[in-house]
Amino acid sequence: MQSFPSSAPGRVVILATGGTIAGTAAQPLDVLGYVAAQVGIEELVAALPGLDEQPLETEQVAQLDSKDMDIEVWRALVLRARHHLARPDVAGIVVTHGTDTLEETAYLLQRVLAPSKPLVLTAAMRPSTSLQADGPQNLIDAVNVARVAGASGVVVVMAGWLHGALDVRKTHTHRLDAFGCGDAGPLGRIDAGRLRRVRDWPHGVALGADVLDVDRWPRVEIVLSHAGASGAIVDALLAQGVDGIVAAGTGNGTLHHALEAALLRAKAEGVAVWRSSRVADGGVLSAADAVLPDSGPLTPVQARVELILQLLQCRSVRA
Ligand code: SIN
Repeated sequence: MQSFPSSAPGRVVILATGGTIAGTAAQPLDVLGYVAAQVGIEELVAALPGLDEQPLETEQVAQLDSKDMDIEVWRALVLRARHHLARPDVAGIVVTHGTDTLEETAYLLQRVLAPSKPLVLTAAMRPSTSLQADGPQNLIDAVNVARVAGASGVVVVMAGWLHGALDVRKTHTHRLDAFGCGDAGPLGRIDAGRLRRVRDWPHGVALGADVLDVDRWPRVEIVLSHAGASGAIVDALLAQGVDGIVAAGTGNGTLHHALEAALLRAKAEGVAVWRSSRVADGGVLSAADAVLPDSGPLTPVQARVELILQLLQCRSVRA
């Protein structure tokens, strides 16, 4: 058992991007009719007991509903995180984010930066004005985790759970405890201000932020296999121009035969095609006779980020 504070010296930098954690509703009981990304990070931090006494810095990188997350905000976030992680006076980073695309941003940050200090994403399922607001406790927990001495990697702190960036996914549309890690399981748990670390935090080799420094990121789209699927969307993408397609297949990444035929046409035209699964947990187990490669344990949205990064890497190798 490791209890807070077990702090590394130095400051924590909070990079804010918006989300429900910064949302407001007209009524405190209204948990649906609110607008995300309304309150600035300074105001959110000022409302939290004890945080004003800690060495903290805040920076508003963006202010958006994360359903609208885009490449420009991702690039800005990666560059600001890289900048602050390199500062010797910084112990760790917290990123406040919307829950809707948090798993994609967490995956991107871990793969590109693989930080040797903690980089902690947090969010909320209730707006800041709600009687049930979960943002304040999540933010305090995230700041404490960002100070854990000797920790590294990108983690997500929500509802007392610590999830690894490569495994985390949103699993519920409206409960406070809305994230899980599938078969991988959580990294740790915070209860009554005490952190129990269950297993090691993510580590790996950073691709480096320079990989994002291109005029045009590859276009990678996700298509869903379902009863009655056709190849029409794939054909439309081919007509428009696409660099990669992730197919969210059924079961162990199986595809409707009409969709599979279109994906094979796309592959023959030089498009990178991966199979993932639309099933929440388990990923895709590789089969030797598969005609299209799979994305292993990655969810379709994580696989899309990974495919973008791999295509970017290929470009930088060719350049
Ligand atoms: C968002 O993702 O920005 C809005 C929804 C949320 O944070 O829960």
